Amino acid sequence: MDKLRIRGGNPLRGHIPISGAKNASLPMLAAALLTSEPVRLSNVPRLRDVHTMLAVLQALGAEATFCGASDVAVCAQDIHTLKAPYDLVKTMRASFLVLGPLLARFQHVEVSLPGGCAIGTRPIDQHLKALEALGASIELNEGYVTANIDGRLQGAVIDLDIATVTGTQNALMAATLADGESTIVNAAREPEIQALADMLIAMGADIDGAGTDVISIKGCETLHGCTRHLMPDRIEAGTFLIAGAATQGSVHIDGGCHEWLEAPLAKLRQAGADITLDDDMIHLDMHGRRPKATDIRTATYPGVPTDLQAQFLALNCVAEGTSRVIETIFENRFMHVPELARLGADIESDGTTATVRGVKQLHGANIMATDLRASSCLVIGGLAARGETIVDRVYHLDRGYERIEAKLTAVGADIQRFNA
Ligand code: EPU
Repeated sequence: MDKLRIRGGNPLRGHIPISGAKNASLPMLAAALLTSEPVRLSNVPRLRDVHTMLAVLQALGAEATFCGASDVAVCAQDIHTLKAPYDLVKTMRASFLVLGPLLARFQHVEVSLPGGCAIGTRPIDQHLKALEALGASIELNEGYVTANIDGRLQGAVIDLDIATVTGTQNALMAATLADGESTIVNAAREPEIQALADMLIAMGADIDGAGTDVISIKGCETLHGCTRHLMPDRIEAGTFLIAGAATQGSVHIDGGCHEWLEAPLAKLRQAGADITLDDDMIHLDMHGRRPKATDIRTATYPGVPTDLQAQFLALNCVAEGTSRVIETIFENRFMHVPELARLGADIESDGTTATVRGVKQLHGANIMATDLRASSCLVIGGLAARGETIVDRVYHLDRGYERIEAKLTAVGADIQRFNA
């Protein structure tokens, strides 16, 4: 099993390129199921989750492959099964994104229930509520969701109880092929929803309001192929900025995502980072200073994303002062706390609140990744610690960070992957 060996203590210094956004690529790959024509996506990151989504599309009968370093071609002309099997869905919850497109185009779909995951129970009731509002009849049988519709889905008001990201994406994709007008109320506003809507518009859909909490869709009978370039990964960018701050370094992030990082950048400024923006670059400089403790409360966009909570918590571990980190999106997203404690961090967690008393120095230790973002926070802990840290189960990291060791090595980190 792959592990990472980190010899910490080097401040990160230099340029870090940002890959295409994982959480934009997954719904956009699923959206290719809405048309029989070819779809081509560029700037797609080579991540385990992307390969899983390609495997799901292939299992359904679509052609879906990388055809260049970061270009993916999908053609869903010959779909030969409408069943997304447990073996694939269990490895990645986002596989559930095929539900809306398949139902809208083929009037029938069976998708395995994704089940709980490490960070919480993560129900799918809002996805089902949205499709039922569009007229689908839904049954749960032997661990599968089966959805059917006679004829086309019917435009409707979809009033979500929770502003769910992938739930909004499933509803949006389904509504593009519905008969008549739909409105998604209390829609999630994350930039990845806007990216999906822009792709659907390029395929011929009529959508207004994506990026706000009310999205209007005028359904159409068919959609056509398109070519899209993926937005940069704002969570990857945020992770490297926090790593730069935790190591008292100076990093320059290429990729043009500062417009989506306002809340995290404000927190980094509070932590003492000198941040400047120009064109597509974010420059962060700690001027060799120790970060200051900064309270964090996660929120839906445009707040501090839950996907950066663990990384901010790691930053607070080496900061001057005491901070509180409150997780409001997922009920079990503090599994990195005991691992950071192995590095010498002083954290008390109670439910969804962690109180972090910053220590001057963390010390290397053997630690274990438990989920994707927890893994990146452990890497940050290891980079900031004195001595050697071994991070186990880095397959979690490979789900969402492309070439992370290479990118960190290029800015001065001492980090190697090995197999043991
Ligand atoms: N929820 C429900 N019912 C539903 C759907 C969601 O109760 O039907 C709850 C969830 O349990 C959670 C909250 O609503 O408490 C928000 O979850 P959401 O549905 O928005 O999360 P998601 O769509 O499953 C996406 C990202 C996650 C990210 C969250 C929150 C993708 C593929 N995944 O998940 O990304 O944490 O939104 O921003 O876009 C990651 O990249 O590491 C990751 C976990």
